[in-house]
Amino acid sequence: MILLISDVHGFFGVVNDQIRHAEETFGKLVEHVVVLGDFGLFSSKLDRFFDYQKRSFLRPVSFLDGNHEEFERFSELLETYSLHFSHMARGTIHQLCGHSCICLGGSSFLDVLNTPEKAEIKDHEIDQCLAFKPSDGEIFLTHDSPRGIGVPHSQRWDINGPTGFARSRELLEHFSPRLWIFGHHHQWFDRQLQGTRFLGLPISWEGYAILGEDFNLNPVKHVVKPEQPILRRWFGGLLGG
Ligand SMILES: [Fe+2]
Repeated sequence: MILLISDVHGFFGVVNDQIRHAEETFGKLVEHVVVLGDFGLFSSKLDRFFDYQKRSFLRPVSFLDGNHEEFERFSELLETYSLHFSHMARGTIHQLCGHSCICLGGSSFLDVLNTPEKAEIKDHEIDQCLAFKPSDGEIFLTHDSPRGIGVPHSQRWDINGPTGFARSRELLEHFSPRLWIFGHHHQWFDRQLQGTRFLGLPISWEGYAILGEDFNLNPVKHVVKPEQPILRRWFGGLLGG
């Protein structure tokens, strides 16, 4: 079984907490974890977890990039921590539980603070996906949601206009995937529209989904407490929680 989780934001211990919960709940080993973006690829967070605390993930982990990653040092950090996780690049195909999955990280533009230039989904990345044949896209894994399926904006963003990335409609028409799983909006969303089930995942410490064979997809609500860095634990009140 594959564990799908999103928006880790550098709280890597949460990934292990959810792996343990999934294995206890389903009585099986997690073969692979896929993080659907906002992994938190930042040197300070990686250094603290993997180098200073000498921790590692319990199972193999791959991630799609979101909009909150250290894009300026992306390749260097991937190489440095290549023993711990791998990246699923935009517009690539991966086999998961016998299904052909197309991955597309990044997001549409939100605002200057939340969407660095390299986070934005580019036209050539959509075109790269569209170059695959329809049967290659049985499942879509994206960070941002498709547009026009009814995902509301998260309350943390005072932004108007539709959610999701504009050219998702072309992908939907070309592939008609059985499943389309995304994160980014920090809220559960589960809707069947025509032949596609759309599942939005919340922030990682509120739950995850398990993908099995035959397009079996189980959302699992499980709240854990992310570990705060020691300064925030001591001075949390002063820092605003
Ligand atoms: Fe995001």
